[in-house]
Amino acid sequence: MTEITATYYFRPKEGVSPDWAARAIAEEQTTGTWTDIATRQEYVHYLDGIIGDIKPSGAGYTCTIGYPSDIFEPGNIPQYLSVFAGNLFGLSKIAAVRLLDVEFSRELIPFNGPKFGIEGVRKLVGSEGRPHVGTIIKPKVGLNPKDTAEVAYEAAIGGVDLIKDDETLTDQKFCPLKERLPLVMEKMDQVKSETGRNVLYAVNISTAGDKIVERAREAVRSGANMLMIDVLVCGFDAVRAVAEQPGINLPIHVHRAMHAAMTRNPEHGIAMRPFCRLVRMLGGDQLHTGTVSGKMEHDASELKGDNLTLTGDFFGLKTTFPVASGGLHPGGVDKEVRMLGRDIILQAGGGIHGHPDGTRAGAAAMRQAVDAALAGIAPAQYAKDHPELKRALDKWGIAN
Ligand code: 3PG
Repeated sequence: MTEITATYYFRPKEGVSPDWAARAIAEEQTTGTWTDIATRQEYVHYLDGIIGDIKPSGAGYTCTIGYPSDIFEPGNIPQYLSVFAGNLFGLSKIAAVRLLDVEFSRELIPFNGPKFGIEGVRKLVGSEGRPHVGTIIKPKVGLNPKDTAEVAYEAAIGGVDLIKDDETLTDQKFCPLKERLPLVMEKMDQVKSETGRNVLYAVNISTAGDKIVERAREAVRSGANMLMIDVLVCGFDAVRAVAEQPGINLPIHVHRAMHAAMTRNPEHGIAMRPFCRLVRMLGGDQLHTGTVSGKMEHDASELKGDNLTLTGDFFGLKTTFPVASGGLHPGGVDKEVRMLGRDIILQAGGGIHGHPDGTRAGAAAMRQAVDAALAGIAPAQYAKDHPELKRALDKWGIAN
């Protein structure tokens, strides 16, 4: 029977052996509990977790646990998570435990993955081999629909490929989705007729589980060209439910608000890697994974591996476009491209709308920074005859 292999880091409390800790995790997540039980019949044991080599790592250990595939209900993501990532994090004799990665077997991926992937999104935008530039409308809440659309127009005309709502903007009374979306799309049409460029707008449809599909349909009816889902607060299954819905044929931009509660602590929680695999298999076309120069803390080698998980081979599924976002500005672009490559969406909120000459200039500065990076020209050099970039670098400096 195929095994699903999860890799954990763990640090037992003093006096607890690594063997005992690994067994405690394996038993808690499969057929055992904290004590012997008379009901653990002989025939149940084929579902026992299989503990791999326990290796010292930092202040603790790593080990794999192989989960027999019959323990899973194929396609039931909440159930998968309860196995790989359930009670184990709270076991009191283990000081810290972090799920690092999960290797799935094909039979547990009865999903179609992204409909568009990097290539599909590039086709919509009409780009070849360059990083995309995106923006988040700022302020994240408060603007009315008309002003939101105006800011979107300025960003689009300045050169961004993608505009998205921020995670806390959904359908509040100051900016109802039904009013905002048509106005923004009108502006995107205007940009198309003025420049020939197709700019995507990821409208945030995040809401309750029993309402998200209807909200997605509503967005389609109002002319949306991309949807956005906040995957951790909505639940992974929200992405699947929308991606699998007949008649919803739009790319899905996946934001990850709340992730750092699980991903940030290097000793405890869940690394981003398993989330990348889940989002890709469930149909996310774009996923935030982080920056190497921005405001959020990241381990660069973990981040590169996460992006590879989205772009490398994965059971023949289409790729997911990694999104670098959070405190990014034109002065960080060179470093992002050097470290993360060209298959990346470079997204800046404050780094565009905070430009001294406004949103349009901020968007232009981001595009100029990308052009400089692709041409292998140092940003300061390129800025000499690109005034928008120059003004941005003067304000925020250059990340190195
Ligand atoms: C995001 O959605 O990633 C953040 O809102 C980024 O905003 P910032 O570019 O202003 O940090």
